[in-house]
Amino acid sequence: MDNTKEQRHLLKAKFTLLADIETDQKKRMPQPLIQKVLEEGTEIINLPEATKDVVIKNDIFNCLMDRQSVRTYSEEALTLEQLSFLLWTTQKVKKVVGKVNFATFRPAASGGARHPFETYLVVNNVEGLNKGVYRYLAIEHKLVYLFSEGNMEEKIAEATSGQKFIATAPVVFFWSCIPYRSEWRYDIAAAKTILQDSGHLCQNLYLACEAIGCGTVAIGDYHQEIADKFLRLDGEEEFVVYAAPVGKLKEV
Ligand SMILES: Cc1cc2nc3c(=O)[nH]c(=O)nc-3n(C[C@H](O)[C@H](O)[C@H](O)COP(=O)(O)O)c2cc1C
Repeated sequence: MDNTKEQRHLLKAKFTLLADIETDQKKRMPQPLIQKVLEEGTEIINLPEATKDVVIKNDIFNCLMDRQSVRTYSEEALTLEQLSFLLWTTQKVKKVVGKVNFATFRPAASGGARHPFETYLVVNNVEGLNKGVYRYLAIEHKLVYLFSEGNMEEKIAEATSGQKFIATAPVVFFWSCIPYRSEWRYDIAAAKTILQDSGHLCQNLYLACEAIGCGTVAIGDYHQEIADKFLRLDGEEEFVVYAAPVGKLKEV
């Protein structure tokens, strides 16, 4: 129980302490990049424009009323248009503002518009995409193909604490965070903000899925080291914070 109580400090606001802290932003340290740089020679994949054409349930009341966690999916592939819509609703950069320092505005809210996340997709069954791991370019609305490995299903199940239904989903979203994007401004207050931000991402995904006849479930129970290693993240400056498998609803 003592350990549990120790963890509660993460839940508490630290903004009053910030006044006395010389944050990196106050020190005029360079702002971290708003998106990870591309390695040379990476394969970029265009996504269709995200439009309302994929929406089959327009009513926000019904989307909220019907939203639930979905753990079994149709065997049908997700269309690229549906995937494009889901990426847009969770992370697409709608606007970049600033001249020296930059902020991005996206469909999900983020404390101080820091948006400390990158989106990785494990594609299993999406029309027009080979199986493999991709990263979303939220500014350009494109995908970068990263890699593919043997036994992907086994590795995903291992990375998500043995929850096998995740591994066979048509696509699995993994959100990593790059904490320094928030720490640069919020220092010790960043961690709580990042976790709050991540909830917004996933709730957008839930509602967007509901609108297009798909289902998802938030995944908090994953194996940190295995998931980071699988996505080739260093586990310190960037690591997984959340995941969500997505597939078409069986009855649609
Ligand atoms: C932060 C968080 C973590 C979760 N982690 C898991 C998980 O690892 N596996 C799972 O099957 N469901 C997970 N869930 C889904 C919850 O079990 C689900 O939201 C809850 O039972 C309520 O059901 P509903 O979403 O259908 O309303 C998680 C939900 C949240 C918000």
